[in-house]
Amino acid sequence: MAYGLGAEHARASSDDEIPFYGRHQAGIATPAQACLNFAAFDFTATGSGDLRDLLRVWSAAAALLTAGKQLSPTLRDRSSLGTDTGEAAGLNPAALTITIGLGPTLFELDGNDRLGLRSRKPQALTRLPTLPGDEIDPWRSGGDLCVQACSNDPQVAFHAVHNLGLMAHGVAVVRWSQLGFGRTASTSRAQATTRNLMGFKDGTNNIRSEDEEAMRGHVWAGADDGPPWMVNGTYMVARRIRMLLDVWDSTPVSEQERTMGRQKDTGAPLGGRRESDRVDLSARAAGEPAIPMDAHIRLAASSENGGERILRRGYSFADGVDRDTGQIDAGLFFICFQRAPQRQFVAIQRRLAPNDALSRHISHVGSAVFACPPGARRGGYVGDRLFATG
Ligand code: HEM
Repeated sequence: MAYGLGAEHARASSDDEIPFYGRHQAGIATPAQACLNFAAFDFTATGSGDLRDLLRVWSAAAALLTAGKQLSPTLRDRSSLGTDTGEAAGLNPAALTITIGLGPTLFELDGNDRLGLRSRKPQALTRLPTLPGDEIDPWRSGGDLCVQACSNDPQVAFHAVHNLGLMAHGVAVVRWSQLGFGRTASTSRAQATTRNLMGFKDGTNNIRSEDEEAMRGHVWAGADDGPPWMVNGTYMVARRIRMLLDVWDSTPVSEQERTMGRQKDTGAPLGGRRESDRVDLSARAAGEPAIPMDAHIRLAASSENGGERILRRGYSFADGVDRDTGQIDAGLFFICFQRAPQRQFVAIQRRLAPNDALSRHISHVGSAVFACPPGARRGGYVGDRLFATG
């Protein structure tokens, strides 16, 4: 197997199979597919053996599903629920990836070493603090485990999470879930930049998965980052960010552009001409900074954040109408991957929340963090090194 930095996952056309096994889990460096089905679970069993069994059976199932195969009846034995639920029969995997994450509460819940795994908890895996401006709904937040299924076919992604959820019967229950569409960040040089629901190109200055140095420097956990079982893994932060579109939609485009720091039609940084132009934070126009001091891209830029970067891999969501306000409940299901959430996402968001002009138009309503272990070797399973002795 070619062990580049996720090279085995780096190519995906709409019908491709993305290998489940590899150095890293798929669904991180993989070019973002068209849609997302995400579920966070509460682990309800009391033994680490049950967790091991669940990760083993989820991994075996994920290997089959991502290869476009039906689940074998034996995989379903642990829940005696019969065979594959069938809704993906006849469909190709459409670049399905299944990424598994472990939440901080799996290792320690209310001070209890609930599964005897506390000593193995990575330091980087701590619950996210309440950040300025947060309006977090606990029932859209947290989770002991997560499954991120991405595919170019929403039915395939649904089927994956549906069946993994059934397999967890008796040991884990879905706590909250989120559907997403229209990937909001290009994560590969092969992808054109798509637009978020505010109408702006999103992902221009994202880390590209082909950039091995950036992936090593900012995304993949190394030997110095914590426990050996997480080497080649990464940490996921998920934030459900609602866009307050009624005000945004009535904001003049020139003001929207000053909020983001980029032109709406071309995606060029203010003061530049093309999307690919370097962001020049020192550029001036009519005696003022061309990119306003409170523009999103200025405050999020790595040069303003101690050189820290994150791999953004989020999706748009639209979940009907908020019954209290009558406004559409839509926005960005922000997912990012990094080596150290406190140093990366949390530090950037602490800077953005109180200062960013965009903060007036968004609200962070869901929040979770997960350790995504390295990819499984054939015959192994995601997270197996967590249980290794010695
Ligand atoms: C609904 C919320 C958000 C929207 C609509 C949004 C939108 C955008 C847009 C349009 C860009 C410019 C294009 C690009 O380089 O991708 C951008 C850049 C960026 N955003 Fe956001 N963003 C949101 C939330 C966040 C959050 C919560 C973070 C991190 C805490 C973040 C971090 C970044 C970073 C690091 C960049 C690249 C800046 C640069 O180096 O030029 N964004 N975002």
